[in-house]
Amino acid sequence: MKPFPPYRIQVVKEIPITTRQQREDALARASYNMFDLPSNMVTIDLLTDSGTGAVSAAQEAAAAQADRSYAGSDSYYRFRAVLDEVTSYPHVFPVHQGRAAERVLFSSVLKAGQLSLSNTHFDTTRANVELLGAEARDLPCAEFWNLDSTEPFKGNVDLAALEDTLRSEGERVGQVLITITNNGGGGQPVSMANLRAVRALCDRYGVPFFLDAARFAENAWMVVQREAGYGHLTPREVARQAFALADGCVASLKKDGIAPMGAVIGLRDPEVAKRCEVNLIATEGFRTYGGLAAHDLERVARGVEEVLDPNYLRSREADAAYFAELVNRAGVDIVRPAGMHALYLNAGRLLQHIPPHGFPGHALASELYLAGGVRCVELGSLYLGTFDEDHNLVTPAPFELVRVAIPRRTYTQAHLEYVADVLADVAKNPTRVASYRVVDAPPVLRHFNLTLERIPPRP
Ligand code: F0G
Repeated sequence: MKPFPPYRIQVVKEIPITTRQQREDALARASYNMFDLPSNMVTIDLLTDSGTGAVSAAQEAAAAQADRSYAGSDSYYRFRAVLDEVTSYPHVFPVHQGRAAERVLFSSVLKAGQLSLSNTHFDTTRANVELLGAEARDLPCAEFWNLDSTEPFKGNVDLAALEDTLRSEGERVGQVLITITNNGGGGQPVSMANLRAVRALCDRYGVPFFLDAARFAENAWMVVQREAGYGHLTPREVARQAFALADGCVASLKKDGIAPMGAVIGLRDPEVAKRCEVNLIATEGFRTYGGLAAHDLERVARGVEEVLDPNYLRSREADAAYFAELVNRAGVDIVRPAGMHALYLNAGRLLQHIPPHGFPGHALASELYLAGGVRCVELGSLYLGTFDEDHNLVTPAPFELVRVAIPRRTYTQAHLEYVADVLADVAKNPTRVASYRVVDAPPVLRHFNLTLERIPPRP
Protein backbone atom coordinates (compact mmCIF):
# COMPACT_ATOMS: atom_id res chain seq x y z
CA MET A 1 0.00 0.00 0.00
CA LYS A 2 1.24 3.52 -0.82
CA PRO A 3 2.41 5.37 2.31
CA PHE A 4 0.32 8.36 3.35
CA PRO A 5 0.89 11.20 5.85
CA PRO A 6 -0.13 10.25 9.41
CA TYR A 7 -2.01 13.55 9.92
CA ARG A 8 -4.77 15.65 8.42
CA ILE A 9 -4.59 19.36 7.67
CA GLN A 10 -6.49 21.59 10.10
CA VAL A 11 -5.00 25.04 9.52
CA VAL A 12 -3.95 26.27 6.09
CA LYS A 13 -2.25 29.35 4.68
CA GLU A 14 -3.23 30.84 1.35
CA ILE A 15 -0.46 31.03 -1.26
CA PRO A 16 -0.01 33.86 -3.78
CA ILE A 17 -0.98 33.22 -7.40
CA THR A 18 0.86 35.67 -9.69
CA THR A 19 1.24 36.43 -13.39
CA ARG A 20 4.45 35.96 -15.37
CA GLN A 21 4.72 39.77 -15.77
CA GLN A 22 4.48 40.27 -11.99
CA ARG A 23 7.20 37.67 -11.47
CA GLU A 24 9.43 39.23 -14.14
CA ASP A 25 9.11 42.58 -12.34
CA ALA A 26 9.64 41.08 -8.88
CA LEU A 27 12.77 39.16 -9.90
CA ALA A 28 14.25 42.21 -11.64
CA ARG A 29 13.53 44.30 -8.51
CA ALA A 30 15.34 41.60 -6.48
CA SER A 31 18.37 41.96 -8.81
CA TYR A 32 17.82 38.29 -9.71
CA ASN A 33 18.68 37.17 -6.18
CA MET A 34 16.18 34.60 -4.84
CA PHE A 35 16.86 35.71 -1.27
CA ASP A 36 15.63 39.21 -2.12
CA LEU A 37 12.24 38.07 -3.40
CA PRO A 38 9.37 38.93 -1.05
CA SER A 39 7.49 35.74 -0.14
CA ASN A 40 4.20 37.30 -1.23
CA MET A 41 5.51 36.94 -4.78
CA VAL A 42 6.33 33.23 -4.37
CA THR A 43 3.73 30.54 -5.13
CA ILE A 44 5.60 27.39 -4.08
CA ASP A 45 8.54 28.11 -1.79
CA LEU A 46 11.16 25.37 -2.03
CA LEU A 47 14.06 27.61 -1.03
CA THR A 48 14.63 25.68 2.19
CA ASP A 49 13.30 22.96 4.47
CA SER A 50 14.51 24.99 7.46
CA GLY A 51 11.93 26.50 9.82
CA THR A 52 9.30 26.02 7.12
CA GLY A 53 7.66 22.78 8.30
CA ALA A 54 4.03 22.83 9.43
CA VAL A 55 3.66 22.60 13.19
CA SER A 56 1.18 20.16 14.73
CA ALA A 57 -1.77 20.90 16.97
CA ALA A 58 0.18 19.13 19.73
CA GLN A 59 3.16 21.46 19.23
CA GLU A 60 0.90 24.52 19.44
CA ALA A 61 -0.84 23.14 22.53
CA ALA A 62 2.54 22.60 24.17
CA ALA A 63 3.60 26.13 23.11
CA ALA A 64 0.52 27.54 24.84
CA GLN A 65 1.68 25.88 28.09
CA ALA A 66 5.16 27.41 27.86
CA ASP A 67 6.79 28.61 31.05
CA ARG A 68 8.75 31.80 30.48
CA SER A 69 10.83 31.70 33.65
CA TYR A 70 14.32 33.02 33.04
CA ALA A 71 16.01 30.12 34.85
CA GLY A 72 14.94 26.50 35.13
CA SER A 73 11.61 26.81 33.32
CA ASP A 74 9.30 23.80 32.91
CA SER A 75 9.73 24.20 29.15
CA TYR A 76 13.48 23.73 29.50
CA TYR A 77 13.02 20.52 31.48
CA ARG A 78 10.66 19.15 28.85
CA PHE A 79 13.20 20.05 26.14
CA ARG A 80 15.97 18.37 28.19
CA ALA A 81 13.99 15.20 28.77
CA VAL A 82 13.45 14.67 25.04
CA LEU A 83 16.97 15.62 23.93
CA ASP A 84 18.60 13.62 26.76
CA GLU A 85 16.72 10.53 25.72
CA VAL A 86 17.47 10.82 21.99
CA THR A 87 21.10 11.99 22.17
CA SER A 88 22.31 10.52 25.49
CA TYR A 89 24.68 13.49 25.96
CA PRO A 90 25.06 14.55 29.60
CA HIS A 91 25.38 18.23 28.64
CA VAL A 92 22.62 19.67 26.47
CA PHE A 93 22.18 23.37 25.69
CA PRO A 94 19.36 24.99 23.77
CA VAL A 95 20.46 27.59 21.20
CA HIS A 96 18.39 29.77 18.91
CA GLN A 97 19.54 28.13 15.66
CA GLY A 98 22.17 25.86 14.15
CA ARG A 99 24.73 28.50 13.27
CA ALA A 100 24.71 29.79 16.86
CA ALA A 101 25.41 26.24 18.03
CA GLU A 102 28.32 26.12 15.56
CA ARG A 103 29.76 29.42 16.73
CA VAL A 104 29.53 28.49 20.42
CA LEU A 105 30.95 24.97 20.00
CA PHE A 106 33.70 25.75 17.48
CA SER A 107 34.99 28.71 19.46
CA SER A 108 35.36 26.32 22.41
CA VAL A 109 37.26 23.59 20.53
CA LEU A 110 39.03 25.15 17.52
CA LYS A 111 42.01 27.50 17.45
CA ALA A 112 43.24 29.71 14.61
CA GLY A 113 45.29 27.70 12.14
CA GLN A 114 43.61 24.41 13.04
CA LEU A 115 41.67 22.15 10.70
CA SER A 116 38.05 21.01 10.78
CA LEU A 117 37.52 17.85 8.72
CA SER A 118 34.11 16.88 7.38
CA ASN A 119 32.22 14.91 4.74
CA THR A 120 30.97 18.39 3.73
CA HIS A 121 30.64 21.53 5.85
CA PHE A 122 27.36 23.37 5.34
CA ASP A 123 27.92 27.04 4.33
CA THR A 124 27.33 28.61 7.76
CA THR A 125 29.36 25.80 9.32
CA ARG A 126 32.29 26.58 7.04
CA ALA A 127 31.89 30.30 7.75
CA ASN A 128 31.97 29.69 11.52
CA VAL A 129 35.17 27.62 11.17
CA GLU A 130 36.79 30.26 8.95
CA LEU A 131 35.76 33.18 11.19
CA LEU A 132 37.98 31.59 13.87
CA GLY A 133 40.94 31.57 11.48
CA ALA A 134 40.69 27.78 11.14
CA GLU A 135 40.39 25.82 7.89
CA ALA A 136 37.31 23.79 6.87
CA ARG A 137 38.30 20.83 4.69
CA ASP A 138 35.73 18.59 2.98
CA LEU A 139 36.61 14.93 2.37
CA PRO A 140 33.53 13.38 0.73
CA CYS A 141 33.68 9.72 -0.36
CA ALA A 142 34.53 8.79 -3.96
CA GLU A 143 30.89 7.92 -4.88
CA PHE A 144 29.87 11.49 -4.00
CA TRP A 145 31.52 12.72 -7.22
CA ASN A 146 29.35 10.56 -9.46
CA LEU A 147 25.95 12.28 -9.52
CA ASP A 148 24.34 9.34 -11.34
CA SER A 149 25.58 6.56 -9.09
CA THR A 150 22.87 5.00 -6.95
CA GLU A 151 25.22 3.97 -4.13
CA PRO A 152 23.11 4.14 -0.95
CA PHE A 153 25.50 6.17 1.27
CA LYS A 154 27.05 8.88 -0.87
CA GLY A 155 27.08 11.15 2.19
CA ASN A 156 29.94 9.15 3.73
CA VAL A 157 33.29 10.71 4.50
CA ASP A 158 36.29 9.28 2.61
CA LEU A 159 37.85 7.19 5.38
CA ALA A 160 41.23 6.77 3.68
CA ALA A 161 41.52 10.53 3.10
CA LEU A 162 40.40 11.17 6.67
CA GLU A 163 43.04 8.84 8.06
CA ASP A 164 45.76 10.31 5.80
CA THR A 165 44.88 13.81 6.96
CA LEU A 166 44.71 12.84 10.63
CA ARG A 167 48.13 11.21 10.29
CA SER A 168 49.84 13.92 8.26
CA GLU A 169 48.34 16.97 9.98
CA GLY A 170 48.61 15.63 13.54
CA GLU A 171 47.66 18.18 16.19
CA ARG A 172 46.53 20.66 13.57
CA VAL A 173 43.25 18.75 13.33
CA GLY A 174 40.91 20.31 15.89
CA GLN A 175 37.74 18.37 15.12
CA VAL A 176 36.01 15.95 12.81
CA LEU A 177 32.44 17.02 12.00
CA ILE A 178 30.16 14.68 10.09
CA THR A 179 27.01 16.19 8.57
CA ILE A 180 23.98 13.84 8.65
CA THR A 181 22.44 13.93 6.08
CA ASN A 182 25.00 15.60 3.84
CA ASN A 183 23.12 18.74 2.80
CA GLY A 184 26.03 20.17 0.79
CA GLY A 185 26.38 16.81 -0.95
CA GLY A 186 22.97 16.03 -2.43
CA GLY A 187 21.19 15.33 0.86
CA GLN A 188 22.77 11.87 0.87
CA PRO A 189 22.85 9.82 4.07
CA VAL A 190 25.87 8.63 6.05
CA SER A 191 25.99 4.93 6.99
CA MET A 192 26.42 3.68 10.54
CA ALA A 193 29.46 1.73 9.34
CA ASN A 194 31.03 5.01 8.23
CA LEU A 195 30.22 6.70 11.56
CA ARG A 196 31.70 3.75 13.46
CA ALA A 197 34.89 3.94 11.41
CA VAL A 198 35.13 7.70 12.05
CA ARG A 199 34.78 7.01 15.78
CA ALA A 200 37.64 4.50 15.65
CA LEU A 201 39.90 6.93 13.73
CA CYS A 202 39.11 9.79 16.10
CA ASP A 203 39.95 7.54 19.06
CA ARG A 204 43.22 6.51 17.46
CA TYR A 205 44.29 10.08 16.73
CA GLY A 206 42.75 11.71 19.82
CA VAL A 207 40.51 14.13 17.94
CA PRO A 208 36.95 15.02 19.01
CA PHE A 209 34.17 13.77 16.73
CA PHE A 210 30.97 15.81 16.42
CA LEU A 211 27.82 15.38 14.38
CA ASP A 212 26.08 18.16 12.52
CA ALA A 213 22.77 16.41 13.06
CA ALA A 214 20.26 18.82 11.49
CA ARG A 215 18.59 15.91 9.66
CA PHE A 216 19.27 13.12 12.18
CA ALA A 217 15.86 11.48 11.78
CA GLU A 218 15.99 11.37 7.98
CA ASN A 219 19.52 9.93 8.13
CA ALA A 220 18.30 7.29 10.61
CA TRP A 221 15.34 6.42 8.40
CA MET A 222 17.56 5.93 5.34
CA VAL A 223 19.88 3.72 7.43
CA VAL A 224 16.86 1.58 8.41
CA GLN A 225 15.90 1.31 4.71
CA ARG A 226 19.32 0.93 3.12
CA GLU A 227 21.94 -0.48 5.50
CA ALA A 228 22.26 -4.20 6.12
CA GLY A 229 21.63 -5.10 9.75
CA TYR A 230 19.44 -2.08 10.59
CA GLY A 231 16.13 -3.00 8.97
CA HIS A 232 14.66 -4.30 12.21
CA LEU A 233 15.41 -1.14 14.24
CA THR A 234 13.24 1.93 14.72
CA PRO A 235 14.55 5.28 13.46
CA ARG A 236 14.76 6.38 17.11
CA GLU A 237 17.04 3.45 17.93
CA VAL A 238 19.28 4.21 14.95
CA ALA A 239 19.39 7.93 15.78
CA ARG A 240 20.40 7.08 19.37
CA GLN A 241 23.17 4.83 18.12
CA ALA A 242 24.46 7.57 15.81
CA PHE A 243 24.54 10.16 18.60
CA ALA A 244 26.17 7.60 20.91
CA LEU A 245 29.10 7.20 18.50
CA ALA A 246 30.04 10.90 18.64
CA ASP A 247 31.46 13.13 21.36
CA GLY A 248 28.69 15.62 20.82
CA CYS A 249 26.57 17.40 18.26
CA VAL A 250 25.33 20.64 16.89
CA ALA A 251 21.85 20.32 15.43
CA SER A 252 19.60 22.91 13.91
CA LEU A 253 16.13 21.80 15.01
CA LYS A 254 14.49 23.94 12.34
CA LYS A 255 14.76 20.86 10.13
CA ASP A 256 14.15 17.57 11.94
CA GLY A 257 12.84 19.37 15.02
CA ILE A 258 9.98 20.55 12.75
CA ALA A 259 10.09 23.87 14.60
CA PRO A 260 10.18 27.45 13.31
CA MET A 261 13.25 28.14 15.47
CA GLY A 262 15.66 26.24 17.68
CA ALA A 263 18.83 24.18 17.90
CA VAL A 264 20.84 22.16 20.37
CA ILE A 265 24.43 21.61 21.42
CA GLY A 266 25.05 18.19 22.99
CA LEU A 267 28.35 17.28 24.67
CA ARG A 268 30.03 14.55 26.66
CA ASP A 269 33.18 16.36 27.78
CA PRO A 270 32.43 18.45 30.92
CA GLU A 271 35.36 20.82 30.22
CA VAL A 272 34.15 21.65 26.70
CA ALA A 273 30.62 21.97 28.09
CA LYS A 274 31.84 24.49 30.67
CA ARG A 275 33.53 26.61 28.01
CA CYS A 276 30.43 26.46 25.81
CA GLU A 277 28.21 27.43 28.73
CA VAL A 278 30.18 30.61 29.43
CA ASN A 279 30.05 31.57 25.78
CA LEU A 280 26.35 30.71 25.60
CA ILE A 281 25.43 32.83 28.60
CA ALA A 282 27.47 35.78 27.34
CA THR A 283 26.16 35.72 23.77
CA GLU A 284 22.94 33.67 23.42
CA GLY A 285 21.14 33.44 26.74
CA PHE A 286 21.09 31.61 30.04
CA ARG A 287 21.71 27.84 29.81
CA THR A 288 18.05 26.99 30.30
CA TYR A 289 16.78 28.96 27.29
CA GLY A 290 19.83 29.74 25.13
CA GLY A 291 18.17 32.50 23.11
CA LEU A 292 14.92 30.62 22.55
CA ALA A 293 11.50 31.75 23.67
CA ALA A 294 9.89 29.15 25.95
CA HIS A 295 7.23 28.37 23.33
CA ASP A 296 9.98 27.42 20.89
CA LEU A 297 11.56 25.07 23.46
CA GLU A 298 8.15 23.38 23.68
CA ARG A 299 7.68 23.16 19.89
CA VAL A 300 11.14 21.66 19.47
CA ALA A 301 10.65 19.10 22.25
CA ARG A 302 7.41 17.91 20.71
CA GLY A 303 8.78 18.12 17.14
CA VAL A 304 11.72 15.83 17.93
CA GLU A 305 9.22 13.21 19.12
CA GLU A 306 6.97 13.60 16.07
CA VAL A 307 9.78 13.49 13.50
CA LEU A 308 10.83 10.01 14.68
CA ASP A 309 7.41 8.50 13.89
CA PRO A 310 8.11 5.78 11.29
CA ASN A 311 4.78 6.50 9.56
CA TYR A 312 5.75 10.12 9.11
CA LEU A 313 9.26 9.29 7.83
CA ARG A 314 7.91 6.62 5.48
CA SER A 315 5.47 9.07 3.93
CA ARG A 316 8.12 11.80 3.66
CA GLU A 317 10.48 9.43 1.90
CA ALA A 318 7.68 8.38 -0.44
CA ASP A 319 6.94 12.05 -1.26
CA ALA A 320 10.57 12.67 -2.18
CA ALA A 321 10.71 9.49 -4.28
CA TYR A 322 7.47 10.38 -6.09
CA PHE A 323 8.73 13.91 -6.75
CA ALA A 324 12.03 12.47 -8.07
CA GLU A 325 10.12 10.22 -10.45
CA LEU A 326 8.07 13.17 -11.77
CA VAL A 327 11.21 15.26 -12.25
CA ASN A 328 12.93 12.45 -14.14
CA ARG A 329 9.85 12.04 -16.31
CA ALA A 330 10.06 15.79 -17.01
CA GLY A 331 13.47 15.06 -18.57
CA VAL A 332 15.62 16.43 -15.77
CA ASP A 333 18.32 14.44 -13.97
CA ILE A 334 18.84 14.69 -10.23
CA VAL A 335 21.62 13.66 -7.90
CA ARG A 336 20.83 9.99 -7.37
CA PRO A 337 19.51 8.32 -5.35
CA ALA A 338 16.86 10.78 -4.09
CA GLY A 339 17.31 11.64 -0.41
CA MET A 340 14.49 13.06 1.70
CA HIS A 341 14.79 16.79 2.33
CA ALA A 342 15.45 18.01 -1.19
CA LEU A 343 16.06 17.08 -4.81
CA TYR A 344 19.23 18.38 -6.43
CA LEU A 345 18.63 19.06 -10.13
CA ASN A 346 21.49 18.61 -12.57
CA ALA A 347 21.23 22.02 -14.24
CA GLY A 348 24.64 21.71 -15.91
CA ARG A 349 23.41 18.75 -17.91
CA LEU A 350 20.05 20.29 -18.82
CA LEU A 351 21.35 23.73 -19.84
CA GLN A 352 24.37 22.75 -21.90
CA HIS A 353 24.29 26.01 -23.84
CA ILE A 354 25.14 27.94 -20.65
CA PRO A 355 28.80 27.72 -19.57
CA PRO A 356 29.67 27.83 -15.84
CA HIS A 357 30.31 31.60 -16.04
CA GLY A 358 26.69 32.03 -17.19
CA PHE A 359 25.54 30.11 -14.07
CA PRO A 360 23.29 27.30 -15.37
CA GLY A 361 22.05 26.46 -11.85
CA HIS A 362 20.96 30.00 -11.21
CA ALA A 363 19.51 30.19 -14.71
CA LEU A 364 17.32 27.14 -14.05
CA ALA A 365 16.25 28.35 -10.61
CA SER A 366 15.32 31.75 -12.08
CA GLU A 367 13.37 30.15 -14.91
CA LEU A 368 11.39 27.99 -12.47
CA TYR A 369 10.44 31.15 -10.67
CA LEU A 370 9.54 33.08 -13.82
CA ALA A 371 7.62 30.19 -15.35
CA GLY A 372 5.69 29.09 -12.26
CA GLY A 373 6.45 31.14 -9.16
CA VAL A 374 8.55 28.28 -7.74
CA ARG A 375 11.46 29.43 -5.58
CA CYS A 376 14.56 27.29 -5.09
CA VAL A 377 18.27 27.99 -5.04
CA GLU A 378 21.42 27.31 -7.03
CA LEU A 379 24.18 25.07 -5.65
CA GLY A 380 26.81 25.55 -8.30
CA SER A 381 29.46 28.04 -9.33
CA LEU A 382 27.57 31.00 -7.91
CA TYR A 383 27.65 29.36 -4.49
CA LEU A 384 30.90 27.38 -4.59
CA GLY A 385 33.03 28.86 -7.38
CA THR A 386 35.89 31.29 -6.78
CA PHE A 387 35.74 34.81 -8.20
CA ASP A 388 38.20 37.61 -8.95
CA GLU A 389 37.81 41.18 -7.67
CA ASP A 390 35.70 42.13 -10.67
CA HIS A 391 33.26 39.30 -9.88
CA ASN A 392 34.35 37.13 -12.79
CA LEU A 393 34.22 33.40 -12.18
CA VAL A 394 37.76 32.01 -11.88
CA THR A 395 37.21 28.40 -10.71
CA PRO A 396 33.84 26.81 -11.41
CA ALA A 397 32.17 24.46 -8.92
CA PRO A 398 32.45 20.73 -9.71
CA PHE A 399 28.70 20.59 -10.41
CA GLU A 400 25.96 23.00 -11.47
CA LEU A 401 22.98 22.00 -9.32
CA VAL A 402 19.71 23.49 -8.11
CA ARG A 403 18.44 22.44 -4.69
CA VAL A 404 14.68 22.02 -4.57
CA ALA A 405 13.96 21.66 -0.86
CA ILE A 406 10.83 19.95 0.45
CA PRO A 407 9.45 21.64 3.59
CA ARG A 408 8.03 19.14 6.11
CA ARG A 409 4.26 18.50 6.17
CA THR A 410 3.72 21.65 4.09
CA TYR A 411 2.98 20.80 0.46
CA THR A 412 0.79 18.03 -0.93
CA GLN A 413 1.65 15.76 -3.85
CA ALA A 414 -0.48 18.06 -6.06
CA HIS A 415 1.95 20.90 -5.30
CA LEU A 416 4.88 18.66 -6.22
CA GLU A 417 3.10 17.68 -9.45
CA TYR A 418 2.65 21.36 -10.28
CA VAL A 419 6.39 22.00 -9.75
CA ALA A 420 7.26 19.03 -11.97
CA ASP A 421 4.90 20.40 -14.68
CA VAL A 422 6.64 23.78 -14.54
CA LEU A 423 10.00 22.03 -14.79
CA ALA A 424 8.79 19.92 -17.73
CA ASP A 425 7.79 23.10 -19.60
CA VAL A 426 11.22 24.63 -19.01
CA ALA A 427 12.98 21.37 -19.97
CA LYS A 428 11.13 21.23 -23.31
CA ASN A 429 12.98 24.30 -24.57
CA PRO A 430 16.17 24.55 -22.54
CA THR A 431 17.92 26.82 -25.04
CA ARG A 432 15.37 29.57 -24.31
CA VAL A 433 16.70 29.86 -20.75
CA ALA A 434 18.73 33.04 -20.13
CA SER A 435 22.16 33.09 -18.51
CA TYR A 436 23.39 35.52 -15.83
CA ARG A 437 26.30 37.77 -14.96
CA VAL A 438 27.33 38.83 -11.44
CA VAL A 439 27.13 42.60 -10.95
CA ASP A 440 28.13 42.75 -7.30
CA ALA A 441 28.96 40.19 -4.61
CA PRO A 442 30.31 40.28 -1.06
CA PRO A 443 33.45 38.24 -0.26
CA VAL A 444 31.75 35.89 2.27
CA LEU A 445 28.38 34.09 2.12
CA ARG A 446 28.15 35.47 -1.39
CA HIS A 447 24.88 33.96 -2.54
CA PHE A 448 22.76 35.70 0.10
CA ASN A 449 23.73 39.20 -1.01
CA LEU A 450 24.82 39.15 -4.62
CA THR A 451 23.18 41.08 -7.42
CA LEU A 452 22.98 39.79 -10.99
CA GLU A 453 22.11 40.82 -14.50
CA ARG A 454 20.17 38.72 -16.98
CA ILE A 455 21.69 37.95 -20.38
CA PRO A 456 18.90 36.85 -22.74
CA PRO A 457 19.76 33.92 -25.03
CA ARG A 458 20.64 34.68 -28.64
CA PRO A 459 17.51 34.34 -30.83
N1 F0G B 1 23.98 22.53 9.29
C1 F0G B 1 23.27 22.07 8.24
C2 F0G B 1 23.58 20.73 7.67
C3 F0G B 1 22.27 22.88 7.70
O1 F0G B 1 21.58 22.42 6.65
C4 F0G B 1 22.00 24.14 8.27
C5 F0G B 1 20.98 25.02 7.71
C6 F0G B 1 22.77 24.56 9.37
C7 F0G B 1 23.75 23.71 9.86
C8 F0G B 1 22.55 25.89 10.04
O2 F0G B 1 21.38 25.86 10.78
O3 F0G B 1 19.88 27.53 9.70
O4 F0G B 1 19.48 26.74 12.03
O5 F0G B 1 21.38 28.23 11.55
N2 F0G B 1 20.45 24.82 6.60
C9 F0G B 1 19.38 25.57 5.98
C10 F0G B 1 19.20 25.09 4.57
C11 F0G B 1 19.46 27.05 6.11
O6 F0G B 1 18.44 25.72 3.82
O7 F0G B 1 19.78 24.06 4.20
P1 F0G B 1 20.49 27.17 11.02
